[in-house]
Formats: sequence, C-alpha cells, structure tokens
Amino acid sequence: MWAMRLLVTGGAGFIGANFVHATVRERPDVQVSVLDSLTYAGSRESLVPVAEDVRLIEGDVTDAALVSALVSEADAVVHFAAETHVDNALADPAPFVHTNVVGTFTVLEAVRRHDVRLHHVSTDEVYGDLPLDAADRFTESTPYHPSSPYSSTKAAADLLVRAWVRSYGVAATISNCSNNYGPYQHVEKFIPRQITNILTGRRPKLYGRGANVRDWIHVDDHNSAVWRILTDGTLGRTYLIGAEGERDNLTVMRTILRLMGRSEDDFDHVTDRAGHDLRYAIDPSALYQELGWRPGHTDFEQGLRATIDWYEANESWWGPLKNAVEATYAGRGQ
Ligand code: NAD
Ligand code: DAU
Repeated sequence: MWAMRLLVTGGAGFIGANFVHATVRERPDVQVSVLDSLTYAGSRESLVPVAEDVRLIEGDVTDAALVSALVSEADAVVHFAAETHVDNALADPAPFVHTNVVGTFTVLEAVRRHDVRLHHVSTDEVYGDLPLDAADRFTESTPYHPSSPYSSTKAAADLLVRAWVRSYGVAATISNCSNNYGPYQHVEKFIPRQITNILTGRRPKLYGRGANVRDWIHVDDHNSAVWRILTDGTLGRTYLIGAEGERDNLTVMRTILRLMGRSEDDFDHVTDRAGHDLRYAIDPSALYQELGWRPGHTDFEQGLRATIDWYEANESWWGPLKNAVEATYAGRGQ
C-alpha cells in the first residue's frame, strides 16, 4: 500500500530527474510514475539509477487521453514538463507554446476531471527582470512582466493554473524558482556548457559583458522546497523558491575557470542574447517563514565543485550531446 501515488511530468529532464532520484531515496512509500516525451532535453539515462523503482511512460503532456488515464491513477501530480531554454525559444517559439501552454492546460483538465492534487513548477522569469543596481527582489505580489517567448509561455501556464483554482476549485499550488544548477543539467545551459567546454578543450563563452545577474540554487534545494509545498503548502497559493544566491555571470564564469585550474580570463565574449534579462532575484522569506523551509546547499562554490566533479565523472551522459549543441551555438554566433 503506497502512501502516495505520484505522477511526475518531465521527470526525465534536469530538475525532474533529480526530483525523482530524491523521492526514491528519501520517500520509499511514494510510488513514482514519470510522463516524459523524451525530447532532446529528456534522457532515459537520467533515470537509470532508479529504473527499478519508477515507471517511465514515454508520451506527450498534450496527449489528453494519456494524461487523463495517468492522472486517474495518481493522488498527486508534479508538473515539470516544459520547453525550458530561452535561446531555443528565441529561435523557434512554437514548441514552447505547445508544451508549456497547451501541456499545462491538458494537465489542468485532467486533474479537474479526476479531482487530483497538482503542483505546478514555474520560474522567476515570469516577473521579467530587475535593474542591476537595485536592492528590490521578486515577491509573490510582483506583477507578471515576462520578456521572452519562454517566460511568456510559462506566465501563460501559471495564469491558467490560477484560473482553474478560482473557477473550478482545482487543488493546486504554484512555485516560481530561480536558476538551478547541479547534475544532469543539459549542456546547452550556462554552467554545464562552460564546464564541458573546458573538459572538451573548447573556450567558455560569455554573453555580452557578463554583467547579468542570476540567483543560483542547487537543484536538490529546489526539489526539497517543491516537496514541502506539496505536503504543507496552502492550496491556491504561489510560493517563490530561492536560496539567496545572486551572482553575475562573469563571476560565475571566473569561479568555474578557477575551480578547474584555468586562468580566470581564459574565455570568449560572444554575441549577447536578444532581450537579455538583466537580473533575477527572489525574496524567499515567505517560504522560510510560512513553511519553515531552508536551503541545504548554502556554499555555492562547494556546490559548483561537486557539479564539476559530476560532469568530469559522467562524460558518457553528456558527451553524445555536446557537438550538436556547440554547432547550434556556433550558427548563432554564440
Ligand atoms: P529540462 O529542459 O531539463 O527538462 C524538461 C523535460 O520535459 C524533459 O525531460 C523533456 O523531455 C520533457 N518534455 C518537454 N516537452 C514535453 C512534452 N510535450 N511532453 C512530455 N514531456 C516533455 O527542464 P528543467 O530545467 O528540468 O526544468 C523543469 C521545469 O522547471 C520547467 O517547467 C521549468 O520551466 C522549471 N524551472 C526551471 C529552472 C531552471 O533553472 N532550470 C528554474 C525554475 C523553474
Ligand atoms: O531563472 C530560472 C530560469 O533559469 C529557468 O526558468 C530556465 O528554464 C533556465 O534555463 C534558466 O534561464 P536562464 O536564461 O537564466 O539560464 P541560462 O543557463 O540559459 O543562462 C544563464 C545566464 O548565462 C544568462 O544570463 C545567459 C548567460 N549565458 C548563457 C549561456 C548558455 C552565457 O553567458 N553564456 C552561455 O553560453
């Protein structure tokens, strides 16, 4: 008899796979099913360590019949599935509208029909960006002001969830988290791209001057907060997840180079991202105070070192992806 039957959409991606690993490790009384269409960003290999413990269904989150059938067998859904990379959204927004908007609509209709608890995973990018030199941070009451095709589709998805809560009484919570780092992140993203560039003899690539600020959180901390919200959160509420990890990109780049034994100037400046958001920063005090949650990884350099170690030890996971990603970036002058 399971304490909870959990459906995890996007569980073969970066955060979802880490979420599934942590759930299997820490909550053996939870039955985990993963729905993932295994896009370029999803990988069966990411779930190999838990293959015996988890059911992986290869399918699309916009497939209403499939989603309805899976939701009918679950007590709760954690919805990670999304197209997630801003640069890809700029090049081709169509899959972002499809998966992020229609996919979330499909999940909402299924949880409405079967009266199942939903936690919807979203991003701080829905709030737009902050000035570089200001002290203010995003809170639950910051107005939505997305900048990119990615963040606007995530914002649309969040608004659908809010409407389904209000109109149909769907039992849902939302979290908006800052930039994650850790193992199993696709090499298209900033931190793994630089680590694997160095490991493959390429030079790291910094967009523009590197003044843009991101608020870094270890993926295990994001996931422990998701679990806390799932179990103790107030239905209908939005929670912001962050670990007070603001750093500009140049500083992160130099830290990676130093930790990997290179000169801190051993990188290239490349074409900046169109519409590049300047700064994200989360005020996590509501989550701290209301749910008593705290991040476990408070030493960013230590977390980065462990992440570098993971990429060094797992070339078989990322190696097959690397050349194609760099060819795409080269085509964009990045
Ligand atoms: P990711 O790109 O690594 O993984 C996304 C997963 O979703 C992949 O396994 C992919 O195969 C799957 N997927 C995509 N389209 C699908 C579809 N149509 N049907 C079924 N599965 C599909 O993403 P991630 O970085 O792990 O992000 C997970 C979630 O967390 C997303 O909703 C994202 O917006 C959110 N988020 C990410 C970050 C971050 O820093 N990475 C921060 C805050 C929030
Ligand atoms: O804030 C949460 C968001 O964080 C998530 O919602 C997104 O899914 C996730 O991809 C991430 O978005 P960013 O655009 O902030 O992450 P990315 O890793 O693409 O880039 C981080 C910063 O580094 C950004 O300012 C752009 C810069 N960058 C990125 C790449 C890939 C570089 O300077 N060089 C690079 O090669």
